[in-house]
Amino acid sequence: MNKLITFEGIEGSGKSTQMRLIAQYLIEKHVPLLITQEPSGTDIGRKIGGILFNRGHYYMCAETEAFLFCAARAQHVREMIMPALNQDNVVLCDRFSDATYAYQGAARGLNPEFIRVINEYSSMGLKPNLTLLFDLPVEIGLQRATERDNRLKDSSFSDRFERESLNFHNKVREGYLNILKKEPERFRLIDATGDINKIQEEVCRYITDFIGLAN
Ligand SMILES: Nc1ncnc2c1ncn2[C@@H]1O[C@H](COP(=O)(O)OP(=O)(O)O)[C@@H](O)[C@H]1O
Ligand SMILES: [Mg+2]
Repeated sequence: MNKLITFEGIEGSGKSTQMRLIAQYLIEKHVPLLITQEPSGTDIGRKIGGILFNRGHYYMCAETEAFLFCAARAQHVREMIMPALNQDNVVLCDRFSDATYAYQGAARGLNPEFIRVINEYSSMGLKPNLTLLFDLPVEIGLQRATERDNRLKDSSFSDRFERESLNFHNKVREGYLNILKKEPERFRLIDATGDINKIQEEVCRYITDFIGLAN
């Protein structure tokens, strides 16, 4: 079976932090690994991300957004993910097709059936085998994301998505929780309000159990 493990959740829920920590652990255990992210997991994807996240593009329509994320995914799956899975790597991916459902479907209001079709086409029908959903109130997530951005960049920085309303982010959160309800066996729901190290223990347990690594 493939070992495609995706990290999902709203902005600031700790996906990247937790992925970095578990990746370090798995590398120490010599687990063959691809660590990647959407939409910027390829050179082409990074350029597409530049269009998607540019806050000057506030007038971008939802359909364009959906197609651009799927264009980045099409490249990512074919160039990076499939070859890695075929060589029996564990793939850790920061966001994948569920994000298209949550953001462009649940939050932007595009038809879920349309999302299903473009997701399936762009990902060659590939589905995550395990998805960790980092869940927390949007106010906390956005606050964390803002503090992170202020530390990393100039203090006025936030991307096109982070600038969306609380209502938008609440719809994203609900969208994720709805997918989880439909596919509970694929998901692990993580309370992302807790301490980083405690969450890491939980992430580590889920992933080592899933890949059959004794720890
Ligand atoms: N459990 C946590 N408690 C407090 N702060 C956290 C926690 N997890 C992550 N952070 C901090 O919150 C910010 C956003 O985390 P990040 O991993 O970048 O989130 P995401 O990738 O989901 O947007 C970072 O500055 C990170 O250090
Ligand atoms: Mg991140």
